[in-house]
Amino acid sequence: MFINFWYAVERADKVSNVPIKKRMLGLDFVVFRDTQGVARCLANTCCHRGASLAAGKIKGDCVQCPYHGWEFDGDGICRRIPSMGPDAKIPARARVDAYPTQERYGLLFAFLGDLPQAERPPILDIEEYGQEGWAATIQEFEWPIDYKRSMENGIDPAHNEFVHDTHGFSGERDDYRVGPLDMRETEWGTGFYNKVFAPPLAEKRMREASGRAEATYIDAGTGHHGISSIWTHIHPTPEMFIHQYLFETPIDESNTHMFLVNCRNFLPGPEHDERFKERNAYVANQDRDVLTDLLPVLTPNTNIHEIFVPADHPIGRYRERVKEWQARGWRIDKKTLRDTRDEVAYAIPSPARREVKGWVLEQIPLLPASA
Ligand code: FES
Ligand SMILES: [Fe+2]
Repeated sequence: MFINFWYAVERADKVSNVPIKKRMLGLDFVVFRDTQGVARCLANTCCHRGASLAAGKIKGDCVQCPYHGWEFDGDGICRRIPSMGPDAKIPARARVDAYPTQERYGLLFAFLGDLPQAERPPILDIEEYGQEGWAATIQEFEWPIDYKRSMENGIDPAHNEFVHDTHGFSGERDDYRVGPLDMRETEWGTGFYNKVFAPPLAEKRMREASGRAEATYIDAGTGHHGISSIWTHIHPTPEMFIHQYLFETPIDESNTHMFLVNCRNFLPGPEHDERFKERNAYVANQDRDVLTDLLPVLTPNTNIHEIFVPADHPIGRYRERVKEWQARGWRIDKKTLRDTRDEVAYAIPSPARREVKGWVLEQIPLLPASA
């Protein structure tokens, strides 16, 4: 798992003035809205005696710890220590990490790391979101898998034919092969477009909307952005576009919370949303059934115990990027974390740690940066 990326935390409409506890990257966070309506995300462990802030309540712009009532504002700074009385001078170390937040696409994102604003990898952009002629739905899935397994599945052009009867022919075609991949490299990810021989659309309404009743070659593309976001563009006809964006948030090493934003430029009415969601869930569950049965459970860190063929090139590139981000010192040292977590309460370092010293919670252990 990696610090220094934006992660989807929760659907924005679920964030209110009732604090909620969210586990991400193996640690807990408290999420709430302040009186201005701004969504806040703090480390959940109180710096006094380690209580769970999310079990407390919101008082004004602060979350109040359930144990001794210390109040922390949206920047994580302690504003009140009831046991010291109303005129108390609050110790400077009485603060918890607060993480930058953004609300986009109906989701709340938090930047879980300490990079200054200018250096942060951006949230995956959805150009068409909210644009005239486009409709969008949001879905969530929670699967017992390493998020990287799902990332690799998302950018894997060779599985569709076998896993998804909606996209392929279940391996029945003797002339099947993955055609050439038109690779696309960006600063934060690798993707590709290719031509896919696709069966007629299974859904009558979509078939009628597309006017296409025969199997044909369609344009499709997919790629990753950063450590845990994926874009997928499917063009069932030259005019009909389905653009999907998957934001995968590791709950811990082997559990993942996924947020799927599905955009379409046809059948825009909300009365069609449910059918699109059903279809997405059908396809997603086919992936889940394969992914929950892979060994090893965690995505390998080397390629030597697997075989790579040309269709696996995007996965190979993803793994190279993962190594680059590890070399920057962004990867959590999961072994140390596992061995010490009963004795040490950790926090993901927030940007304020670059300015202010003397934090109560220890920073989560990270693998060392390398050249
Ligand atoms: S543990 Fe939070 S106020 Fe004491
Ligand atoms: Fe899939």
